[in-house]
Amino acid sequence: MLWIQRFSGFFSAAMMWIVLSPSLPSSQPAEAIRSSHLHSYLRLPTHIPPFSFRKAPEFRNADVCGLSADITLGEIGVVCDPSLVHVAITLDVDYLRGSIAAVHSILQHSMCPETIFFHFLVSETGLETLVRSTFPQLKFKVYYFDPDRVRSLISTSVRQALEQPLNYARNYLADLLEPCVRRVIYLDSDLVVLDDISKLWYTSLGTKTIGAPEYCHANFTKYFTAAFWSDRRYSDTFGRRKPCYFNTGVMVMDLVKWRRFGYTKRIERWMEIQKMNRIYELGSLPPFLLVFAGHVAPIEHRWNQHGLGGDNVRGSCRDLHPGPVSLLHWSGSGKPWLRLDSRRPCPLDSLWAPYDLYEQHPSSLNSNPNKEEYYFFFFWVKFLD
Ligand SMILES: *[C@@H]1O[C@H](CO)[C@@H](O)[C@H](O)[C@H]1NC(C)=O
Repeated sequence: MLWIQRFSGFFSAAMMWIVLSPSLPSSQPAEAIRSSHLHSYLRLPTHIPPFSFRKAPEFRNADVCGLSADITLGEIGVVCDPSLVHVAITLDVDYLRGSIAAVHSILQHSMCPETIFFHFLVSETGLETLVRSTFPQLKFKVYYFDPDRVRSLISTSVRQALEQPLNYARNYLADLLEPCVRRVIYLDSDLVVLDDISKLWYTSLGTKTIGAPEYCHANFTKYFTAAFWSDRRYSDTFGRRKPCYFNTGVMVMDLVKWRRFGYTKRIERWMEIQKMNRIYELGSLPPFLLVFAGHVAPIEHRWNQHGLGGDNVRGSCRDLHPGPVSLLHWSGSGKPWLRLDSRRPCPLDSLWAPYDLYEQHPSSLNSNPNKEEYYFFFFWVKFLD
């Protein structure tokens, strides 16, 4: 494609002109531009995904679902439709295969898949096109999460993956999502849902701000260091609560209460303390425990069968906890797509495989993707839409 290469310089210049031009003509609401399009222009792709995904089958509402959201309302109008079920998931290159499988599993088990709105949190560009081509009918919006927002707050942990800035994006959902979104289900990227997610959505939180399955038999002491427990200024935070461990990979969040009580700041304050005086060893989980443990609306355990990734250090295979299963979660260091690829899967990894939409892109096998061509393509797609 010689002509592309020859003209790519011109197109790059044209792209920069559009980016820098203050009078960029636009028919889209400012909000939509801010969170999904402008960043696509400003941030050149940092990764070129070396893979693609099969198109998922179409998932349609059953008759009992009633009318689905009115598309003619535009992006903002749709997201504010009160009949929607809101789900937030991160998308990044390393866990993309997991996120796509999670979305696929949710749609497949939902009676009213067209009432689900996905909020994707990203820190790199180029993923929006990929989601659209995999799920052509999906209602979704992509939000840019600036890694610099948390980078200075993150301290080292037992596993490097836990230090990724995007892991901390769940703390900022109340700011990132539109104010009209009053509740959201946050889900990690290493899980599949085997039940109708609307059942989780309609769970009562009572007076609480977040809901999650609690594990009161887990030894809570071990989530914090001796330095934490020996300093009354810190450990007194649990003084008048009965804290139980919960996993932050599946949470139902009341964003109205979250905004009202400023939980984002409270979590950040514990992260600042951690920078000065090491009070825990894990990543984004302990600050959530510090703020919410003992104040969590208990959700049935079936909604987070976690730990299937195995131990944080060794990654051995795990079995299911007893009881019914609505969601399987490969938390821990082992991920099913990596173990399946390595041909040494754990037995339960076969339950993840049916939701995998990954396919090896034929061109990625023998060609080195050309950055210039990619930028050109990128610009052209943006130009056309
Ligand atoms: C809980 O863990 C702490 C620290 O690892 C340990 O000292 C304590 O004995 C444990 N408690 C129980 C009941 O196992």
